[in-house]
Amino acid sequence: MPSQAGKSFYVTTPIFYVNDAPHIGHAYTEVAADVLARWHRQRGEGSFLLTGTDEHGEKILRTAVGNGSTPKAWADQLVHDAWLPLLETIDIDNQDFIRTTEPRHEKNVQKFLQHLYDTGFIYRGSYEGNYCVGCEEYKTEADLIEGEGEYAGQDVCAIHTRPVERLQETNYFFKLSDFTQPLLDFYEQNPKFIQPESARNEVVAFVRRGLEDLSISRSKEKFDWGIDIPWDDSHITYVWFDALLNYITAIGYGEDEAKFESLWPASVQVVGKDILRFHAVIWPAMLMAAGLKPADQVFGHGWLLVGGEKMSKSKLTGIAPSQITDTFGSDAFRYYFMKAIAFGSDGSFSWEDLSARYQSELANGLGNLASRVLAMIKRYFDGVVPAPAGYNEVDLAIQAVAEKAVATADAAIDEIAIHEAIGSVWTLVDELNNYITVSEPWVLAKDEANRDRLASVLYTTAEGLRVLSIALAPVMPKATAKLWAALTEGKIGDLADQPLADSGRWGQLPAGTKVGDLDILFPRIETDVEGK
Ligand code: MSP
Repeated sequence: MPSQAGKSFYVTTPIFYVNDAPHIGHAYTEVAADVLARWHRQRGEGSFLLTGTDEHGEKILRTAVGNGSTPKAWADQLVHDAWLPLLETIDIDNQDFIRTTEPRHEKNVQKFLQHLYDTGFIYRGSYEGNYCVGCEEYKTEADLIEGEGEYAGQDVCAIHTRPVERLQETNYFFKLSDFTQPLLDFYEQNPKFIQPESARNEVVAFVRRGLEDLSISRSKEKFDWGIDIPWDDSHITYVWFDALLNYITAIGYGEDEAKFESLWPASVQVVGKDILRFHAVIWPAMLMAAGLKPADQVFGHGWLLVGGEKMSKSKLTGIAPSQITDTFGSDAFRYYFMKAIAFGSDGSFSWEDLSARYQSELANGLGNLASRVLAMIKRYFDGVVPAPAGYNEVDLAIQAVAEKAVATADAAIDEIAIHEAIGSVWTLVDELNNYITVSEPWVLAKDEANRDRLASVLYTTAEGLRVLSIALAPVMPKATAKLWAALTEGKIGDLADQPLADSGRWGQLPAGTKVGDLDILFPRIETDVEGK
């Protein structure tokens, strides 16, 4: 989604449960949101990325107690030892990190609840149903499957393959059923609200069947790790109702109107498809009840699969992001997951695929291109970018590729087609490599009579690298920063200040620029990564 004039691009990730340390499925959501945020920033728009942790609820309480800790101490430890370091590991440039145990959140969740209670959207009632603690959600019969192995003969949650618990409670309900028609109208009027299309269809079909009211509190007799219901302190707030509100409490809902107005509604809320209904049904209904606008868009991405199943710690298929970044680096992590998997579809992770793409696309494709071009400028022109001496058809073709690559990529980002955006920029990497092969600058260099032609060829490749540094900066911040520094030596300003949309316009790298040394961008990986 392009952001509205004057409003910052506001993108959110789900907030992560602190029952365990992050795996690459969590990192995948983070990276996608970060690439979108950085892309908009590189366009010169204001851009705000929010992420954080979801710390209340029975699941966290049980995990903490099971580990001989208290929920708050457990959450503190995991946030500091695992979730904040994750942001470094995968190079996330977030503007805020919210924890649901912070006063700025708890206080304003209560304000929101009180408002809905006062306006008649919350009432007291009783409920009996099957609850999955893994999902922190009541399940309908349709959500259950027959258990296997130790759970044979029992109904289990289709996501966690563990038994559900029968709960009967008197608690508070949100009148979600009132929003069946308003939501359907909203989806109709805002056809891009839920993306991708398949996700939208699934949600619309679900809402058409009619919504039931939602239990939004739990009695403290059962457990008490949550935010007190403001008018009845024998109840705490249902963890999802609490968690969804992070998207507004973090940006000033209830206490900083100006900040809130400058960011809400969010431009894109990135979520995994498993939690799409919470974000595309319950969350917009909560906002409507409070008289607030829903987000501009909710994007439900696919799952990283291992052995055909959603990667998860509870099924012991989790891979820690650092296992990958320690060997390949954060840029390769970001590039690989964003390029190899169509955003919105499921994708299987394999070490072999990662390793093969690293070698062919990053080390041999981009890395080699950059080092060859800079080495040739050093060798043949004393390290100074030569002025082009006219352009022939082949050169002009490269210019057209550059312009189109950037324009297509920029448009793809507005459709949240991150893989297409990178694929489009990559046409320039491939074409520049072909161009060098065809132009044979090393042959041209042997004859002084070809000096002008050599200058045009090397200018063209250097200028191509300028375009690539800018257009790939949101995906590979570290490598592009190195490349930019070596290529421009600060002569045309900081990389962060180069407007992405204009980067495909040819001729911005001034001839006469002295190039610097370039560290190897993607070092050869000698270790055998198989079976890591
Ligand atoms: N705490 C809730 C979200 C509350 S948002 C108001 C939650 N947390 S989670 O830690 O379980 O998951 C966070 C995100 O990680 C979700 O978007 C989920 O889809 C994503 N992933 C978890 N495993 C994943 C894969 N194997 N593959 C891709 N994404 C995955 O749900």
